[in-house]
Amino acid sequence: MPQNRRTKQNSDNNINIIPHLPRGPATQARDKKANKFLIFSFMSYIISQMFDNDKKIFAAPLAGITDKPFRTILREFAPYASMVTEMISCHSLVEQHKNCIRNFDNYADEGNIGAQIFGADSYLMGEAAKILADAGAKWIDINMGCPVPKVATRSGAGAHLMRDHKLAGEIIQSVVKSVKIPVSIKTRLGWDESHQDWIDLIRIAADCGASFATIHGRTRAQGYSGQSTLPNKPDLPIPIIANGDIKNLADVERVQNLGYDGAMIGRAMLGQPWIIGQICGTCDKPENIGNVALKHLDLIINYYGEKSGVPMFRKHAAWYSAGMPNSAQFRIRVNQITDAEQLKYLIKEFWSIN
Ligand SMILES: Cc1cc2nc3c(=O)[nH]c(=O)nc-3n(C[C@H](O)[C@H](O)[C@H](O)COP(=O)(O)O)c2cc1C
Repeated sequence: MPQNRRTKQNSDNNINIIPHLPRGPATQARDKKANKFLIFSFMSYIISQMFDNDKKIFAAPLAGITDKPFRTILREFAPYASMVTEMISCHSLVEQHKNCIRNFDNYADEGNIGAQIFGADSYLMGEAAKILADAGAKWIDINMGCPVPKVATRSGAGAHLMRDHKLAGEIIQSVVKSVKIPVSIKTRLGWDESHQDWIDLIRIAADCGASFATIHGRTRAQGYSGQSTLPNKPDLPIPIIANGDIKNLADVERVQNLGYDGAMIGRAMLGQPWIIGQICGTCDKPENIGNVALKHLDLIINYYGEKSGVPMFRKHAAWYSAGMPNSAQFRIRVNQITDAEQLKYLIKEFWSIN
């Protein structure tokens, strides 16, 4: 048989092998369509997983708190909840700053986890998103609400993007183009009381390919004080998660009744990492909080080492013990300790653990 460009005879087993040839425009277009369909199906699957727990609860990103050890504890109580990492700087990620241990986190074993990035450089934001997607994040969240001056005013990131919708759109587009996982934004009502244009920003996000958004019911000017106030969910093309002052099941139901597609819990997790599990019905409040504190301390020491881990645990010790008799003295003693074994001894003593 004469060999032509498309087939050649395999003399051993008589099979026609099709050599690798450049694909024509029609085939390329078909491949592109099939790829788009696969990516779309994959994204829909991830999004359905995120909103899968029946209360549709998300753990908020909290810088300095929702690190890998904290998320491990949260996950034990709420196996199906969706969580977001602390915000990570795109510069720090792309430059792989070695002193920032979370730059090297692996998310593959963390279930539904979104990794949050912040920055004002659309190219670097796309590159940072790639790194996090490769590390196993299930979606990328873009911070568009951080009010801290270092982020929002000096770097032009976080809440600043509520004032610069053009840049916000460019960043979202760049991130969406860079990864094959869903992208979301987390924002606030607006810059201040007289500039509350979150609906416009979310429409831009949707147009630029974001799959969903979280709205914190405060303005940048409010910081974290005052009450979070969310109106009825407006008509928007993507799902919206409500955030701000959500502390219990009644609060979750309140925002569900306003029409929101999910609820994100922030500070209510401090000192009670079981709260999401309790709301979702996957756990009760632990009988002895001291056991949770001990486990959390071990995880922190494993992750950061004893020297950094013991001081880092102090704030958690204060939250775990808040409102308990003699908690003020307990806190004073905790703040003086630098040795992990001594700290464990003190925790056991305070919570009467043998
Ligand atoms: C200590 C602290 C750190 C925070 N870090 C982040 C962060 O890294 N990224 C982010 O988008 N929001 C961050 N936030 C905002 C929270 O995610 C949340 O939007 C806010 O606390 C309102 O929710 P809450 O009233 O349930 O606490 C932080 C808030 C606090 C108090």
